[in-house]
Amino acid sequence: MNIAFPGRSFESDSLAVDGFIDLIKGGFENPEGIRGAIRIYVPEHPEQSFIANYGPTLAVEKDDPGRAVDTEVEIPIATIHRIFREFEYLDWRDPSIIGTVSFSGNLGLANHLAKPCIRPSSWTQARFRRAEDLHRSRSYHALDKVEHLHRPSQRMILKAISEGRPLVVSGLEPEPPCKDWTLDKLAERFGNAVVRVRSVAHRQTMAEFVGELQDFMANPHDNIIEGFVKPYTEGANLPNEMWADFGPLFVGPDDFIAPQLWLGAVPTHIPISSLHRDPLTGFLFQVMGRKRLDLYSADQAELLSPMKAYNNYQPCWFKPEGPDYKIYPRAEEARCISVTLEPGQLLLQPEGWFHQVYALDSPNMSVSYFWRY
Ligand SMILES: [Fe+2]
Repeated sequence: MNIAFPGRSFESDSLAVDGFIDLIKGGFENPEGIRGAIRIYVPEHPEQSFIANYGPTLAVEKDDPGRAVDTEVEIPIATIHRIFREFEYLDWRDPSIIGTVSFSGNLGLANHLAKPCIRPSSWTQARFRRAEDLHRSRSYHALDKVEHLHRPSQRMILKAISEGRPLVVSGLEPEPPCKDWTLDKLAERFGNAVVRVRSVAHRQTMAEFVGELQDFMANPHDNIIEGFVKPYTEGANLPNEMWADFGPLFVGPDDFIAPQLWLGAVPTHIPISSLHRDPLTGFLFQVMGRKRLDLYSADQAELLSPMKAYNNYQPCWFKPEGPDYKIYPRAEEARCISVTLEPGQLLLQPEGWFHQVYALDSPNMSVSYFWRY
């Protein structure tokens, strides 16, 4: 049951389209003043098509559906029903969703309209409120550095989690061997492990991926070829073969959600993850290259303009890498703590901390895992 938007199923397609309009209107925000019009065309019910006009709010018109617009979106009625079933965890990148929708015209506008279709679960909202209360009671906005611990005990880790306090952990050597990794060593040790699934037919092994990555780094002009898929695993599931070396530490593997692998050539001048917060406690294990994280405590939420519509994680409208204090004046008061992770170090980031991530070196490799509780 979602307190933010309880309606999840409809007796008719026509009610589903009306529900869809309410959903996007309710989640719509436009702090940067985007303007334009999108036609939403439902192929099974052309008479239900409508035009969404961007302004301070979203205005919907149905009376002149044939008029000129900036963007055309065609979305089957089955996908609209599915959005309602899944909006608490829907991921637009899922090929079985995005593959059903077609776009033409200004794609930026279509992208902006995808945001208000999702909603947080009541559980996620409660987690964020809990973190905000905890951080406020401990004045974490005034914290100016993250504590470093060398070989902490499990008890020290659990205490930091219960206090919502981030930690940088070092001294994990010699077991498991978690630094001095190179691309060649990865290909040699885990050559047959599947690191990226691009389609049913195309499963890429570590050896193939490392080959592609090395070609890319030797020919950086490939970077600008249209449609080129960047050589980055972007949070793929960590292959089983790699668990012994990069699997979760301090508590049992069953206490974590499947670890994710972030390996590849990455830009170092822009954030690889823009400002957001997660409802679960994360462990980020740095393996190759360095990463910098800028952390903002949860009690500063109202300074950072977190998006109203979100589900698995909550992005912010405010972008610290290109701050616009005219639009987001309160963000000037926000204070962050910067942490640079060296290979072999691990960041413990309790639930609810806002963070933005830069890769300082390329290639870069991290393994991340979320604690279940
Ligand atoms: Fe995150």
